[in-house]
Amino acid sequence: MNRFLIIVLCIVVSPPLRADPGAEISVLSKDVMAVKQGETIYKQMCFACHGMNLEGAAGPNLMDATWIHGATPADWFRVITEGVSEKGMMAYEAVYDETTRKNLAAYLLSKQEGLRSFQYEIYPPVSGESEALPGFGSGEPIKSGEISDALVDLSPAEMQEFSMVFKGRFLVPRDGKYIFIHHTRDGRFRMKLNGLVSKSEGGNKKRTRLVVDLKAGEYEMEVAYQRTDGTPHLLLFDVLVPSGINFPLSRDSHQILTTSTHIYEVADQARVVRTVLDGIPHETLAVGLTGGLSFTVGRDASIYSIWDGLFLDTGPNVSERGKRAAQTGPPWFATADGIRLLVDGNPADLRLKEYRMESSQSPVFEFVDPDGGKLTLSAESSDPEALNLLFSIEGIKGELELSIPAGVFFDNELLSQSSRVPIKDPSNFPLTIPKP
Ligand code: HEC
Repeated sequence: MNRFLIIVLCIVVSPPLRADPGAEISVLSKDVMAVKQGETIYKQMCFACHGMNLEGAAGPNLMDATWIHGATPADWFRVITEGVSEKGMMAYEAVYDETTRKNLAAYLLSKQEGLRSFQYEIYPPVSGESEALPGFGSGEPIKSGEISDALVDLSPAEMQEFSMVFKGRFLVPRDGKYIFIHHTRDGRFRMKLNGLVSKSEGGNKKRTRLVVDLKAGEYEMEVAYQRTDGTPHLLLFDVLVPSGINFPLSRDSHQILTTSTHIYEVADQARVVRTVLDGIPHETLAVGLTGGLSFTVGRDASIYSIWDGLFLDTGPNVSERGKRAAQTGPPWFATADGIRLLVDGNPADLRLKEYRMESSQSPVFEFVDPDGGKLTLSAESSDPEALNLLFSIEGIKGELELSIPAGVFFDNELLSQSSRVPIKDPSNFPLTIPKP
């Protein structure tokens, strides 16, 4: 064989020698210095689009199970290297060397949060106590499969009555208090995590909360659900993570957190969108009136911003809303932490129930807690120099305070750190915010 042919054959036969970046990134994600470097660069370059806590802003959330360009660290490395130019993310190949780009991916890996490797099995209905809900692998499932976006999803069951078991790994990036909340009206629910069990019998409207102190790491999570009657199924299941972000664990919760259609129907004069606003957490609601006041509020009753005038991103296509950044009028304030109600020093357990239009200037928001307590909020800005927020609280017991974050003007001064203001008269408590 001549030499030339041998060289040609070698080129054709031997695969290119390239290490798997995924394996390397996985090792780097356990290396404190590598992760630290990734974090430093993330907080200089990436946070503006992907959020300070990776929660997403103009760019997508980078810590949940939903990925547009692939779920593996090797995919992230590729996106960081090549960018997504048509969507506005540049290629970082010429900016950072390979190790630095891997460290960025390692940092993302170290921050992964929520469910992964999620599987389901469907069983015939079980009778008796909720303890009888099937264990994973006990008996023969009628159907089983994977759920790629890691959301508890009752729709794979085509029958009226069934029980389902979901099982996966729950990733916890850092130590802290995690609050698991579930709520179902039509089925029995049981969650097992780290030796703890939380369950509800369904049939009532109470939400069940399980507060768990978790160390960073990986946990087995199992969720069992049994449909108990023929009404349409709904299962709200979230976890509130220490960063204060509400993390949906079921498809219904995800739907509620990421779209606004269900609230949009409440009052069609106001516009509801999911926002893409700098410095405001993802998954807040923006509610605004053309020419009036606009709000971004969290579903837990925190208020992140209020601005005057121009509203953002309105249009008929609800599902497409909030996907573009948009102009707003000047804000009265805009903060990433939110003004929120504290009960005995802890954030109140409130949920947005509805908003309604009672004046042409501001919507009235109503938040409720699991025990029937209620907070009503509206705003008024007839004085161009001051915004009045009006809080009215009914049936919430304990010592009530408002937590006002740094960056908000209060008592004519720009707060440099967050403050607590006691609520003197819960039935009518105004908070005046001067013009910034
Ligand atoms: C100018 C805004 C912007 C900046 C800055 C930015 N990104 Fe992105 N990023 C995006 C957009 C937009 C997408 C793609 C969304 C799409 O395809 O719909 C994206 C996608 C990604 C993805 C893939 C997400 C998925 O769901 O598949 C990763 C990973 C990522 N970015 C990491 C980074 C890192 C790391 C940095 C910093 C070095 C960074 N980005 C900087 C806007 C940005």
